[in-house]
This record gives sequence, C-alpha cells and structure tokens, in this order.
Amino acid sequence: MRHFLTLKDFSKEEILEIISLAQKIKQEAKAKEFKPYLNGKVLGMIFEKSSTRTRVSFEVGIHQLGGTGLFLSTDDIQLGRGEPLKDTARVLSRMVDLVMIRTFGQERLEEFARYSTIPIISGLSDRYHPMQLLADYMTIYERGYDKNLVVAYVGDGNNISHSWLMLASKLGFELRISTPKGYEPDSEVLNDAFEFAKISGAKISILDNPKDAIKGATVVTTDTWVSMGQESEKAKRLEEFKGFEVDKEMMSYAQKGAMFLHCLPAYRGFEVSDEVFEEHSEEIFDEAENRLHAQKAVMVWLDRQR
Ligand code: CP
Ligand code: NVA
Repeated sequence: MRHFLTLKDFSKEEILEIISLAQKIKQEAKAKEFKPYLNGKVLGMIFEKSSTRTRVSFEVGIHQLGGTGLFLSTDDIQLGRGEPLKDTARVLSRMVDLVMIRTFGQERLEEFARYSTIPIISGLSDRYHPMQLLADYMTIYERGYDKNLVVAYVGDGNNISHSWLMLASKLGFELRISTPKGYEPDSEVLNDAFEFAKISGAKISILDNPKDAIKGATVVTTDTWVSMGQESEKAKRLEEFKGFEVDKEMMSYAQKGAMFLHCLPAYRGFEVSDEVFEEHSEEIFDEAENRLHAQKAVMVWLDRQR
C-alpha cells in the first residue's frame, strides 16, 4: 500500500505514470465518459485549513469515479476538540477507503499515515503541496512546455516552492528560486533536492534577484506571500516581499511566450499584478481544472497499489 504525502516518495517513472493516467482520465471526462474506477469507494476529506479547489476537486473527483466523498472539517469532527490523530486514523481506516488531509505540520500527515490501513493523500501541509504540482506539471506538459523547461519560482520559499524542488529534482528540469532574505526554502528540503538532482540531472539554483531567476525562463510561477496560518505576520511579510511582485516588467525577462502559473488563490497587487494574471488566465484556470484530473488519477493509482 502506498500513501501520497510528498513527491519525495515517488520516482520519476511513477510521477509520469500518474500524469499519463490523469491525461487519460481527463480525455475520458471530456468525452463525458466517466468510468467507475472507484465504484462504491468512500473518500474521507479532513480539512484543518480552508480550501476551494482542493475540496471541490476531490469531492467532484471521487463522485465522477463512482464513489462518495465525506467532507470532514475539524470544526465539526472530534479531532478539532482534541481526539488524537492516531485514533481518528484507526477509526476512519475501518469505515472509508481513502483519506485526504489538509493540515499544518507534515508530521501530522505522517502520523496519520502510520496508523492507517488505507492510503492517505496530502491536500497540502505547511511543508508540501504535492497535488498542486501534479496539476502544474500536467498543464506544462499539455502545452508542450515540458521540453527545455526552465521554471522560475519567485516568492515565499515554503510549501509550493518545496514541492517545485521535489518535482524538478525528480524529473530533471531546471528550477530557479528567488525569495526575499529570510524566506528561503528549508535547508533539509533543499539538500534532498540537490541529492535527487544528482541522479536526474536537474539544475537547481537559489538566487537573490528575482529578475536573474526569471531571465530566459519558460515558466514563471509564484504563490501568496501570506500562507494559511501566517495571518499574524501579514503586515511584516507584505513589507519584506516588496520587489518580488510578478508584473509586466518582471515577465519581460522571461522567454518570449513564457507561461505564468499560479496555484491560487491569487492576491493581485502583491505576488502578481492584475495585468499578468489576466494575460495568463487561460493557463492559470487550466492549471486549476487539472487539479480535478490529477487527483482522480492519484486516487485510482493508489487504489491499484493495494
Ligand atoms: N491551490 C489550492 O490548493 O487551492 P485551495 O486552497 O482553494 O484548495
Ligand atoms: N502557500 C499557500 C498555498 C495555498 C494553496 C498556503 O499554504 O496557504
């Protein structure tokens, strides 16, 4: 049995296999052919943080696969009142077939998985957001940008940048990250990425100047400057991230025709200008839609490993 907690646990071949399954499932869905790959199965969805895309795409996804989704907000379940995670994991293992969790520390996902007898899927933690990156890569691949791919990530060095590090170092493409001082990616994640890059041939660099990161990039991406759980740091962050907004001028350093991706929700006038966002809205909303297809693929893939 496998879990989907971080791309760190997946090989290049497995990541590409899931992406290819996602493409197949997407084509079937576009032809209105919803195959019941998970007929009668139940997905529990625990949310300790807010969500639009993750919640809707998992719930719609499991429904389209012939199963049912249970939305379990910690405002409602006993976990939110202090019932141990390991007890929740053991109870759900006896009642549902898969569990997705959106939480704070990655160790919460790991603990849940340790006590589960069913596959556990990350729906984001403070450390990683692996589902997002599958959708991002799917969008890049569909548009043919996977060849000679150079990704520039500009912004906060937390969960999304960590997942880019895992994806690039596993698949072997070039990734440049630029963050304000003090907001660099975690050193452990970076070390892992450099180790994987030795095998895959990925080129990874951390640069102070966002323009140096974007120069010649074929894909530019960013994320909010204030992640969920960091609300009390908002004023300080907005000040310290000044100069990192992806605007027209910043995009002019990228290769002509470069894509711009954003995991959403986007805050215009902060990490991205309204102009850049709207110019690239087709790509961004394809990326959002691909969450649905990629997640269906992950659920089917995990079910097949059992
Ligand atoms: N990108 C993403 O995970 O969006 P939500 O927070 O709306 O789920
Ligand atoms: N870094 C953001 C991603 C949201 C999808 C957060 O953790 O809030």
